[in-house]
Amino acid sequence: MYRETPHPIYLKDYRPPEFLIEQVELRFELDPEHTRVESRLALRRNPAATRGDGSLRLHGEQLTLMQVAIDGHALTPAEYRVDAEGLTMHRVPDRFTLETQVEIHPSLNTALEGLYQSGDMLCTQCEAEGFRRLTYFLDRPDVMARYTTTLVADRTRFPVLLSNGNPVARTDLEDGRHSVTWDDPFPKPSYLFALVAGDLRAVEDSFVTASGREIQLQIFVEPHNLDKCDHAMRSLKKAMRWDEERFGREYDLDIFMIVAVSHFNMGAMENKGLNIFNDKFVLARPDTATDVDFDGIESVIAHEYFHNWTGNRITCRDWFQLSLKEGFTVYRDQEFSADVGSRAVKRISDVRTLRAHQFPEDAGPLAHPVRPESYIEINNFYTTTVYDKGAEVVRMQAALLGPESFRRATDRYFERHDGQAVTTEDFVRCMEDASGRDLTQFRRWYEQAGTPELSIQSKYDATAGTYTLSVRQETAATPGQPVKYPFHIPLTIGLLGAEGQALPVWLAGESAPPAPGTRLLELTERAHEFTLVGLTERPVPSLLRGFSAPVRVRDDLSDADRMFLMAHDSDGFNRWDAAQTLHERLLLALTDDADHPIPEDYIAAFQRALRDPSADRALLAEVLTLPSETYLSDRMTVVDVDGLHRAHRQLTRCIGERLRADLLAVYHDSAETGDYVFSPEAVGRRALKNLALAYLVRAEDGEGLALCRAQFEAAHNMTDVMAALRLLTEQGGAAAEAALDAFHRRWAGESLVLDKWFAVQAAAPRADALTRVMALLHHPDYSARNPNRVRSLVSTFSNLNQVRFHAADGAGYRFLVGQVLELDPANPQLAARLLKPLVRWRRFDPERQRLMRTELERVLGSGELSSDVFEVVSKALA
Ligand code: ARG
Ligand code: ZN
Repeated sequence: MYRETPHPIYLKDYRPPEFLIEQVELRFELDPEHTRVESRLALRRNPAATRGDGSLRLHGEQLTLMQVAIDGHALTPAEYRVDAEGLTMHRVPDRFTLETQVEIHPSLNTALEGLYQSGDMLCTQCEAEGFRRLTYFLDRPDVMARYTTTLVADRTRFPVLLSNGNPVARTDLEDGRHSVTWDDPFPKPSYLFALVAGDLRAVEDSFVTASGREIQLQIFVEPHNLDKCDHAMRSLKKAMRWDEERFGREYDLDIFMIVAVSHFNMGAMENKGLNIFNDKFVLARPDTATDVDFDGIESVIAHEYFHNWTGNRITCRDWFQLSLKEGFTVYRDQEFSADVGSRAVKRISDVRTLRAHQFPEDAGPLAHPVRPESYIEINNFYTTTVYDKGAEVVRMQAALLGPESFRRATDRYFERHDGQAVTTEDFVRCMEDASGRDLTQFRRWYEQAGTPELSIQSKYDATAGTYTLSVRQETAATPGQPVKYPFHIPLTIGLLGAEGQALPVWLAGESAPPAPGTRLLELTERAHEFTLVGLTERPVPSLLRGFSAPVRVRDDLSDADRMFLMAHDSDGFNRWDAAQTLHERLLLALTDDADHPIPEDYIAAFQRALRDPSADRALLAEVLTLPSETYLSDRMTVVDVDGLHRAHRQLTRCIGERLRADLLAVYHDSAETGDYVFSPEAVGRRALKNLALAYLVRAEDGEGLALCRAQFEAAHNMTDVMAALRLLTEQGGAAAEAALDAFHRRWAGESLVLDKWFAVQAAAPRADALTRVMALLHHPDYSARNPNRVRSLVSTFSNLNQVRFHAADGAGYRFLVGQVLELDPANPQLAARLLKPLVRWRRFDPERQRLMRTELERVLGSGELSSDVFEVVSKALA
């Protein structure tokens, strides 16, 4: 907690550590109230660092120091100093053993960083700087050490004791306690340390690696969750195989463990050999989890597993390099999901996320480069920019290099940097060395914040048979970066002929046309002109296929062109994107003018799509989904909260009425038969069915609602149950209350399902939404100590219920800030994240701006803030 302004840390100030730690021996006497931690560190001066004044400073927070000794000699108080952030020893030898003993209090740790209690178990979260809450240490990622860890705890309360690596000793002690010693042969940074203690059960399996080694796989959960681990285990094995095939990466230890924890700030954590997960990303049964949950589990399990090479074997030199591991690992998990599912659908959902979250971040006061230059609180930099834009930056390099060359480059990266703590620069250099390409200008993607906008103008010359594309790029200024230089942008395009056939993209000056299809153009200047030849008719261009760069595009295509692309583009992503743009333009027009006509050909285009029996169901569902109100608000200069909501309802209702017969047919055709299957086809079918149901319900003719009630009663899988419950809750009234009650009774005690019960109420855009949310804060199942529960109620309301959160009287803002101020002393990471929807205050009308600013100022004025919340608020107001 800060009284004074916390100071930023700068990338330019990076210095190698003065000391290295070769070996770490830890002993934990675990107890929720008082845990004793003994540490023995083998330290030596770093030959690569400049010599300081002979003192040594170790990080340490919220530790009670009991003893400190160098080479077996206890230090006297005059020989060291302890403050709130660490331990300084005034004079130390060049090589020595440091022993410390500290006491910590897991049960009081509500920040969920360091060692904490979750239910009856104890677990750790060390990334980014939580290890310093366990013991005094050089808690920075460029200090990599070998760890041996002994855990001692009560045998009945904590029969399972886990840490990184392999178990090497087990002893029963006289006093009812037992001890297990773990040894991790791979040097690692402290943020990858983990321990878990609890009364846990494991689901076990095994995996044989490409080279024939057998790996033991274990997923540890509380006993009542043993029946919800199958999907996670299947996902893990798929991910292990895929990483061998696609990246040549084999697992290295003999055991791989996953633990599901119910109190967790983030998604999951890739600790070496012992991944710790938010249980939301492990536990699933068809009747408790939706398709979206199954999907999330598959990709997060894969993500954390993939970190073993991209993050653990090769780690980050400092936290400015976070995207080195996160951007690359997100890219890897995206590719995994694309390969095991549908590539186009995966790309659509990733781009949706990018546009809905990253683009606004890049356009707001918290904009920062993929490799930031400074931070106040590193926990605030686990952002969509570092993760998702970081993945796009890797994806663009893969596109520029091509698949073979990119694989050579990643092979080189793994070989050259194994066991090291490196930088994004080292990564790019491997790309260059393996391909011979010069990526000097490309590096700007790491350095410059902001989303480039491409303006693309086309001109067809019938006499010459040429088609000219004039492309300009422009990037708006971001905080601290008033001037932007042009980016190196891969622009993938195709051309379609009048029958929808692919035409060759033949550049003037080339002697012969390439094969018809997709072609990669490279932008490096602020403006380019591409003249395409050999065209006997005006083509329809398919621009930025597969979303080849994280940019916004402004083009001169007509609505008719977009309908044509929607029907004929061979690029599934662009078929969807054409539909999205059609929806978007119409919704924005309706927002400005409720009487704007809804064109017949728009309705007809979607009717044709619905009637095409061969259409991929999942893609069709995506095509028919309107852009969200939140996404649309980012497309307006001044957000018209109420107008957008009205327009959205108006168009939804119109589609429901006009396409009623087709929607009913699709609904009935897609009925579930037999047991739940999680496959791309089945997921697509359910998505389309529930989308059709949503349109039918919103057409408000009574029939949709009847189907919805029947589905809620009859469905056996949570996807269909939730789809119905969401619509019922949105409609309100007695049927909604009855369904909510029944659902609550049915799922009492299933925490993750109850999260859905809270979320569905928080998201319903009914007039009394805030009143309901505030009442739910006092529900016996609500707990401000469980981040999943807080997110399900508070974040769902403020992020997914735009029209009620932004109510004109400012009550939503006051509510959110009240929650932030209450949570901040207990859990700063969570509090800082909750604040995010207020950060975009400048985008609203003057009165809402005033209300939002007043609330942000209330936060800033309220004295003792965490550095997390302080940084977000002060930057939001700057
Ligand atoms: N490395 C983890 C992941 O991406 C996230 C850890 C986030 N920790 C934090 N303190 N913000 O999988
Ligand atoms: Zn990650």
